[in-house]
Amino acid sequence: MDDRSFVAAQDFLLASKTFWTKRLYPEIRQTYEDAAEKAASKPQDPADVAALLDGDTLYRYFSWLERHLQRFKYAGRYGLVPYHDERRAELSASLRNTSAELAPDLEMPNYYQRVDIHQHPGGVWSDELDGYVYERGARSTTPLMGAAHADLHHRFTELVASRGEPENILDMGCGFGKSTHPFCRKFPAAQVEAIDLSGPCVSLGAHNAGEAPNVRFRQMNAYDTDYDDNSFDLVTSTMVIHELPPTEMKQFFAEAARVLAPGGRMAHLDFYAIDGPFARFIHYGHGRRNNEPFMEPLAEMDMQASLAELGFTNIEVIPFQEAEGLSLTSHDAWRFPWTVIYAEKAVD
Ligand SMILES: C[S@@+](CC[C@H](N)C(=O)[O-])C[C@H]1O[C@@H](n2cnc3c(N)ncnc32)[C@H](O)[C@@H]1O
Repeated sequence: MDDRSFVAAQDFLLASKTFWTKRLYPEIRQTYEDAAEKAASKPQDPADVAALLDGDTLYRYFSWLERHLQRFKYAGRYGLVPYHDERRAELSASLRNTSAELAPDLEMPNYYQRVDIHQHPGGVWSDELDGYVYERGARSTTPLMGAAHADLHHRFTELVASRGEPENILDMGCGFGKSTHPFCRKFPAAQVEAIDLSGPCVSLGAHNAGEAPNVRFRQMNAYDTDYDDNSFDLVTSTMVIHELPPTEMKQFFAEAARVLAPGGRMAHLDFYAIDGPFARFIHYGHGRRNNEPFMEPLAEMDMQASLAELGFTNIEVIPFQEAEGLSLTSHDAWRFPWTVIYAEKAVD
């Protein structure tokens, strides 16, 4: 496959997802609002919304497109997987001799192996090129943002930076480093530890870090790390907690509490604050169609109570604007319910 065909196909994918985001979504929303107005009682939860949209052709088309565009992204003639596979020798060589600390015997949790997350065949961890595939795929994850997709992590870093300067940072579930590098650049005097279950992702993270002296990429389970108690003053994650089943999510927050020093803070960018039954219905459907089954339990979790139980204080749930000019409340287009979960470890 030549580069032009691949790029054209991936451009087509992004354009189609943009159509889905900006044209189909508002129509579904309008269909729902019209039906809700005529309904005998006001819809209370996602099941009520489902009943109103049951059999609606446009909604079925919306759902089908969501699932199958994602499949098209990875597999088939112009997918990310075959494209990178054809360049295996060169890409694989680029990952040799990076500074990443790999743990080939690390046990992969059941939830991680059982689901091909994002419909990425084999998940983001089972093939040496998965970091590259994930990196390229991330460009079309947020169609509303288009080329501004990289801004997301910078904006998150700026929000965290506006509340203090850390010295020791742990980025849990760092992927290929898209979440880590902005912190390394923003805080050049800090030591940054970036950990992820995926060996291919941490290898690419280390490769992309080049000569950056203040970061270490390590293959490690975020809810079972080898760091000492009280060793960080900032723990972060972006788009990780919704990938964890409820039990592991609690272990993840407990591990953050253990490794944070008293008074240290944690900030997690994820999908949590969701306004109303229609938004929940769409988001839970997205979780199912994109192979992300734990989005729903995260959104239903009582965050204040769960974090307070673990010894966190000053807990905040902050709706997050992912790019300049995007409205948090507009219904003109589909968007993720971006949210920052922010808390401090209590000082005894
Ligand atoms: C959606 S990606 C986000 C990656 C990165 N934070 C970013 O914003 O680009 C989620 C990442 O979480 C990692 N992950 C999932 N469960 C994990 C765990 N228990 N420990 C460490 N990493 C985990 C996955 O391997 C994946 O790289």
